Amino acid sequence: SEALPTGYSVRPLERSDFEAGFLNVLRVLTTVGDVQKEEFEKRFDEMKAGSGYHVLVILDGEEKIVGTGALVVEKKFIHSLGLVGHIEDIAVTKDQQGKKLGLRIIQALDYVAEHVGCYKTILDCSEANEGFYVKCGFKRAGLEMAHYY
Ligand code: ACO
Repeated sequence: SEALPTGYSVRPLERSDFEAGFLNVLRVLTTVGDVQKEEFEKRFDEMKAGSGYHVLVILDGEEKIVGTGALVVEKKFIHSLGLVGHIEDIAVTKDQQGKKLGLRIIQALDYVAEHVGCYKTILDCSEANEGFYVKCGFKRAGLEMAHYY
């Protein structure tokens, strides 16, 4: 089936989601830091509609944020001014994992990518998550390199 559990919903991130615990969901992924409401709102405003950032959240039956994921649309000169989708920061809160919420986030982001005209969508993940992304229809391609500052 292609549905979320009964009562669950998916929608774009909203400016008021700081209060709904959005950043806590990201803590299952990595260090978030001590981000204040005003700082969250400033970053949210920078990622405004039309900027190529598409951040989605999944809400449970009590309107609590239990999952998130982002699509960043990169503009290219190559491939006839092509667009590349980048899937970033996929997270499902620990007690909600294994309910296909991660899969639904990826499907929703993939839908956005295809509809805004991306010719491909790529992402980086750990070996431990490879199986998840294979189930989402992705395949291993290339190698990530990083330079940390
Ligand atoms: N390895 C192999 N298969 C997996 C894994 C895994 N690590 N995780 C899930 N699967 C499988 C599930 O068993 C399921 O298979 P099925 O259809 O045969 O039943 C399928 O993938 C879909 O799984 P979901 O239930 O949608 O997965 P979930 O909602 O738990 O979300 C996620 C997966 C996002 C990786 C979650 O476990 C999580 O938040 N982990 C911590 C944060 C993290 O690592 N995020 C990804 C970082 S990479 C990035 O952001 C680009």
